[in-house]
Amino acid sequence: MVGVCFWVFNIIFMINSSSAKTKDCPEVCSCLGTYVHCGSRKFETIPSNIPNWTTHLILQNNSIKKLTDVNWKHFSELKELILNKNNIASIPKDAFKYQTQLRILELNRNKLTVIEALTFKSLQHLSTLKLKRNKINELMDGSFYGLKKIDKLILDYNHLKVISKRWLYGLETLKQLSLSHNYINKIDADAWEDLSFNSLESIEADTFKNLGPLNLSNNKIWWTIEDANGVFQGLNDLEKFFLAGNKIKSINADAFVGLKNVTHLNLGNNNITSIQNNAFSEVPLLKELIINTTSLICDCNLRWFLDWLNLKQFKLQATVCAYPDWLRGQSLVEVTSNLTCDELPKPRLIEEPDPEIMALKGENITLNCRAMSSSLGAMTFLWKKDNIEIANPNVLVKSHTDPDGKSTETGSQLNLISVNHSDAGKYQCVVSNNYGTTYSQKSTISVLVYPAFIKSPKNVTVQAGETAKLECSANGEPVPEIAWHKDGGNDFPAARERRMQVMPLDDVFFIINAKPSDMGVYSCTAHNPAGMVMANASLVVQEKPSFAKSMEDKEFTAGEHVVLQCQANGLPKPTITWLKDGEAIVRTERHFFIHEDQLVIIVDSVQSDSGVYECHLNNSLGEETGRSRIIVKPNTYDTSNMMGIIIITVVCCAVLTSIIWVVIIYQTRKRMPPPVVQTELQEFPDLSDKARSAPDPDASLSRQHF
Ligand SMILES: *[C@@H]1O[C@H](CO)[C@@H](O)[C@H](O)[C@H]1NC(C)=O
Ligand SMILES: *[C@@H]1O[C@H](CO)[C@@H](O)[C@H](O)[C@H]1NC(C)=O
Ligand SMILES: *[C@@H]1O[C@H](CO)[C@@H](O)[C@H](O)[C@H]1NC(C)=O
Ligand SMILES: *[C@@H]1O[C@H](CO)[C@@H](O)[C@H](O)[C@H]1NC(C)=O
Ligand SMILES: *[C@@H]1O[C@H](CO)[C@@H](O)[C@H](O)[C@H]1NC(C)=O
Ligand SMILES: *[C@@H]1O[C@H](CO)[C@@H](O)[C@H](O)[C@H]1NC(C)=O
Ligand SMILES: *[C@@H]1O[C@H](CO)[C@@H](O)[C@H](O)[C@H]1NC(C)=O
Ligand SMILES: *[C@@H]1O[C@H](CO)[C@@H](O)[C@H](O)[C@H]1NC(C)=O
Ligand SMILES: *[C@@H]1O[C@H](CO)[C@@H](O)[C@H](O)[C@H]1NC(C)=O
Ligand SMILES: *[C@@H]1O[C@H](CO)[C@@H](O)[C@H](O)[C@H]1NC(C)=O
Ligand SMILES: *[C@@H]1O[C@H](CO)[C@@H](O)[C@H](O)[C@H]1NC(C)=O
Ligand SMILES: *[C@@H]1O[C@H](CO)[C@@H](O)[C@H](O)[C@H]1NC(C)=O
Repeated sequence: MVGVCFWVFNIIFMINSSSAKTKDCPEVCSCLGTYVHCGSRKFETIPSNIPNWTTHLILQNNSIKKLTDVNWKHFSELKELILNKNNIASIPKDAFKYQTQLRILELNRNKLTVIEALTFKSLQHLSTLKLKRNKINELMDGSFYGLKKIDKLILDYNHLKVISKRWLYGLETLKQLSLSHNYINKIDADAWEDLSFNSLESIEADTFKNLGPLNLSNNKIWWTIEDANGVFQGLNDLEKFFLAGNKIKSINADAFVGLKNVTHLNLGNNNITSIQNNAFSEVPLLKELIINTTSLICDCNLRWFLDWLNLKQFKLQATVCAYPDWLRGQSLVEVTSNLTCDELPKPRLIEEPDPEIMALKGENITLNCRAMSSSLGAMTFLWKKDNIEIANPNVLVKSHTDPDGKSTETGSQLNLISVNHSDAGKYQCVVSNNYGTTYSQKSTISVLVYPAFIKSPKNVTVQAGETAKLECSANGEPVPEIAWHKDGGNDFPAARERRMQVMPLDDVFFIINAKPSDMGVYSCTAHNPAGMVMANASLVVQEKPSFAKSMEDKEFTAGEHVVLQCQANGLPKPTITWLKDGEAIVRTERHFFIHEDQLVIIVDSVQSDSGVYECHLNNSLGEETGRSRIIVKPNTYDTSNMMGIIIITVVCCAVLTSIIWVVIIYQTRKRMPPPVVQTELQEFPDLSDKARSAPDPDASLSRQHF
């Protein structure tokens, strides 16, 4: 009883409180509690009198063009905002800045074309975002960033072409992503990958962990399945995958790599002609497979598929052969005869473009593809650049049927006239006929531009100790590498001595405290695969004249050779002028100037050579003078007659010897009989004369006989 009373009381209270609010309900709208319905009222702008307590605002089916009609700041209570079926063409930046409570935002059937980056960044609680049936062709990088609780993102019936990590960025909590009926023809290889390449390193690889069914039906995803591989990597937990109606003709062996948990795969409404061996081996949990095609080539290449279908017990009744003739119209699963490969009706490439092509900007390039088929049906070529079909390719097609009518050969030549940077990319030709599609290898065209200098180094002259600047930069495609050489080599004295500063961004380098050893020819080369250019600049380091060794005062004796030295530094090399006592030295046969005037030699000096000698250095930067006082002393003996000295010495010695002998004889005579001595003396009558010229060895010998 008490409970019932309480309940009744509650209801009355609720009616009261809601009617209190209903009081401010705009006349043109209807309100229920905090729900405000303003739908189908032909509003062209959002009414300004919507109360600020509104939690659910329904504005659908009006003609609202702008979201800036009201001050959204007032609506901080909003939990649901329905704007379907209006004429909104853009969402201004920060439009929903204050709607942090918003759970549901519906913008279906408007005129949106672009979703700017970070448009929804404040909607941290939003769980549902519907953008169906707009004309969205571009989702900028990080369009949905900030939607931390997003569950459901509906983008069906727009004009999207690419599924890319760049706009999927930040959608970690997504459970349902719907993209059917767009123009998707490209799924970036890393689209589903984890977000660890961004700054969010803590997020696990299974970003789309709880992603429910992924509906990509009725797009143009054929390239992805036919040619690329591994694009679904990262969708590990995806269970249901719908790819119906995508014009897929053949299924690549690697098409479904990464879809380990897929149990339902719908490939219906694709006219599939061929399925490569083990194409479903990466989808081990598959329980339901839908393939309905009437175009299947039932040849030996499908034997595995038939076996696999039997193993899996899939009953693909609507998978019907178109080839060979005797199997046309038969369901594959009912084929009992052996599947054979007698002929090859699917196009077979016999020529395809080179994998790497380098072209100079402005050149013409042709890419050739030729294919053969055992079927006589027409083969059609198309060309892709970076996985997108080239809209109006400049092609030349040549076809030719074998005279015995057993095969066709068709070639397509793609002409790229005067290529520029925008032509660079990966090219591929795709050839199809009724029996299938064959993809050529990809040909990477690089468009190169010969390097050209923007700044080339200039000849520089600096004074020693100053800083020299050398600059060099070049443009080209790819951007050329800049290298420096000095005098053709890699030895930079300034680098060795850590006096070199390189400014990598400015293409400049500085030599600090320049020295003469830095002088030389500096060559800057700019190099890229197109070629190389070189520019030379000479660096000249100038130096004031100076003396490497100070000049010294010296003394000489007359007759000596006087050597005067003046070791000069300076660049340019200073001129040297010699002065004696203020007068220029006159060159005579006694005055020699050698070693570029750094040495003066005066031979056979005479006393008058004494004086103050000045060495005067002069170059464009200055002058310097050094002095040396030279004294030439007179000669005290005649050094010119050596023979005389020798003779005098010998004579002196002889005289001395004679005197000694005379003394000895005199002493001896006192003890010996005199006659013997007499005889001896008689044998040497002119002892003194002989000794004057040269000592007589015989004489001294005979004396020993004594
Ligand atoms: C949309 O509003 C118009 C009036 O503006 C109304 O006639 C029409 O029935 C409404 N359509 C829907 C689907 O509510
Ligand atoms: C709504 O506006 C009234 C007065 O303008 C103000 O007192 C009230 O706090 C506002 N409520 C909200 C939820 O902003
Ligand atoms: C997938 O999208 C297509 C086209 O919008 C639709 O017909 C189909 O029912 C959707 N499938 C699922 C399972 O939602
Ligand atoms: C497949 O899903 C199950 C649970 O549904 C999960 O435990 C498993 O890790 C998933 N497998 C892969 C490869 O992610
Ligand atoms: C193929 O399958 C799709 C989707 O399952 C279905 O809508 C369509 O009618 C089928 N087409 C044929 C020719 O069986
Ligand atoms: C598949 O092929 C059949 C006949 O060849 C054609 O009628 C049908 O439109 C094709 N379907 C698709 C989705 O291309
Ligand atoms: C089918 O042909 C292949 C090779 O031509 C042969 O190895 C295989 O045994 C044949 N199978 C049947 C069932 O005839
Ligand atoms: C490139 O082709 C155009 C048009 O065919 C021609 O006018 C031009 O001379 C060609 N240029 C070179 C570099 O061959
Ligand atoms: C390259 O050529 C295309 C058309 O041929 C032109 O639109 C584009 O501006 C050119 N780009 C450059 C960088 O010259
Ligand atoms: C630049 O100098 C190098 C040697 O240092 C020489 O081989 C080269 O020919 C010179 N180049 C130019 C353009 O003067
Ligand atoms: C730079 O110096 C070299 C010799 O060192 C000379 O041949 C050349 O002409 C000079 N260049 C300029 C632009 O003065
Ligand atoms: C020094 O050399 C300069 C030229 O380099 C010349 O003009 C000047 O007269 C010279 N001075 C003397 C004192 O020789």
